Amino acid sequence: MCGIVGYVGSGETVKILCRGLKGLEYRGYDSAGIALSERKGINVVKAVGKLENLEQKLSGQDFSTAGAGIGHIRWATHGGATLKNAHPHVSEDGRTVLVHNGIIENYKELKQNLQNKGYHFVSETDTEVVVQQIEEELKEAASPTEAVLKTMNKLRGAFALAVMNTDFPGKIVVAKRNAPLIIGQGKNGNMAASDLPAMAGEVERVIYLDDDELAEISEDEIKIVNAAGQVVSKTFKPFNLAPEMLSKRGFAHFMLKEINEQPGIVRRMLQKYLSEKGVQLSGLNLSWEDIRNLTKIEVAACGTSLHAATAGKYLIEDLAGITVEVEPASEYIYRKHPESRNVLVIGVSQSGETADTITAVRQAKERGAHVLAVTNREDSSIVRYADSVIGLEAGIEVSVAATKSYTAQLAVFYLLALYLAQERQALDEDCLRQTEQALQAVPSQMEEILANAAVVRRCAEKYQDARDFIYVARGVNIATAMEGALKLKEISYINASGYPAGELKHGPIALLDEKMPVLSILMPGSQNYDKLLSNSQEAKARQARMIAVTSSADRQLENLFDDIIRVPQVPELLSPLTANIPLQLLAYYMAEKLGRDVDKPRNLAKSVTVE
Ligand code: M6R
Repeated sequence: MCGIVGYVGSGETVKILCRGLKGLEYRGYDSAGIALSERKGINVVKAVGKLENLEQKLSGQDFSTAGAGIGHIRWATHGGATLKNAHPHVSEDGRTVLVHNGIIENYKELKQNLQNKGYHFVSETDTEVVVQQIEEELKEAASPTEAVLKTMNKLRGAFALAVMNTDFPGKIVVAKRNAPLIIGQGKNGNMAASDLPAMAGEVERVIYLDDDELAEISEDEIKIVNAAGQVVSKTFKPFNLAPEMLSKRGFAHFMLKEINEQPGIVRRMLQKYLSEKGVQLSGLNLSWEDIRNLTKIEVAACGTSLHAATAGKYLIEDLAGITVEVEPASEYIYRKHPESRNVLVIGVSQSGETADTITAVRQAKERGAHVLAVTNREDSSIVRYADSVIGLEAGIEVSVAATKSYTAQLAVFYLLALYLAQERQALDEDCLRQTEQALQAVPSQMEEILANAAVVRRCAEKYQDARDFIYVARGVNIATAMEGALKLKEISYINASGYPAGELKHGPIALLDEKMPVLSILMPGSQNYDKLLSNSQEAKARQARMIAVTSSADRQLENLFDDIIRVPQVPELLSPLTANIPLQLLAYYMAEKLGRDVDKPRNLAKSVTVE
């Protein structure tokens, strides 16, 4: 949801900024732009669309005198994806430039005030008001830092800002509230960015700005002040994200690489948390008594994380016997939650920066609930509101479509469900040990599925003409069906829905004809297996094109389904971990066949930092 970067130093400023923006590309690709502090003054270059368009504009030009610069990658909120709305924005007198991530909620009233003073606006963005306000404050302020501070105190909403001014060459001022901003110190200069990948290979130490803090960054000094203008002292942490960590390692796309990383991630998590003595969840700061007294678990999440939580509900209720309510964070935050005593609230977020999920956990913390954050980024904003944190340990996920983080979130829910069951003595020892053993076998079974990816690729070839898709399942795999449908929609732009199979006849069945593929996730041994078979028969009777993902060896299925994707047999409760992989691959191959931009699907951003 927009990303910003800034650099001051003796390195190649344009290259460093462009590499920085590349590391932030997952945050949006509606436009990209940079502003450079050069000997002749400030130079702004921007382009609509992906970063490569900006790089093309920059190529062949001489920027050797640029000792500082700021850059932006945009996911449009206020105003379309046009050149005039692209950042950096420039003040009316041309002396100040600014890039911004976030939304300024009171931009209309600030704009009106500035217009009354004679300022003219050229863009439709909320951002432009900030750069004009800084220009206004500079009439009285002694430095851009003071002007940014005064401006910041007038803003409502979320922002991470980077500002340069022609009268203060070689300096960048950055500020933040409710949007991430990290400052990095390197051998050849200092940086600021919305996220760590922007600084990979460039800096060795980092610090995180807190809300309403400002930093003045020059080549050899980083000065941080708070909203009252007092100097704040912070300790740098070592940072060593090698640029290779962000490479595709020979895969055609990050998505395919990340799908293939899944067995290793689950194996690592099991090694860390599961031993012969059972599950030890070091990140969960609840006493045995707290766990025994839990009356309910509430989970707030969005998108793929919401689907992982949906599976988590089945797991925890089934294994630990605790009621779990799962809700989109965007709804959870606008509803009353009368109980908070003995309630565990879980916020699930790969990025840890999703605005709705952060609001949900912040509210829960204010109500006095114990908050657990499940996130892939233990340095992210969600952690600030959490009493307990469990990391996904999936490594940086670059592809906008979440795959390995979903599997890692599922793994956390298995571990959590087993841990709660063990602490509450909700399951007998044998049953616990059997489930744990079956879980230990899953990584190898996932590898088997990946080794048979060709079956799924052939299926994708066959169904690439479909304009709609329906995924059905029962029980815990309803989450798998919904996640499979989301994956297909977001990267191939094919309309897809995931339904509980029993719901098919209550409406969606009207959509079925010989053009509609219906994919059933059928796990033998489940109490609903026969019912799901009947639902599939009903779809077949309407001439739908029938696909099954199953571990069943039952040859009868060949009469019912046109295509069968087989996965290894696991207990039904564990099958979301295996059944999901063919669905990720199906979405991937369909998108690839249709020539879609797999890693950067249109209109999406990986980190949704606005409500
Ligand atoms: O970072 P989060 O897990 O909070 O993100 C939530 C959703 O925005 C995210 O899962 C989104 O749905 C992905 N594009 C799914 O692939």
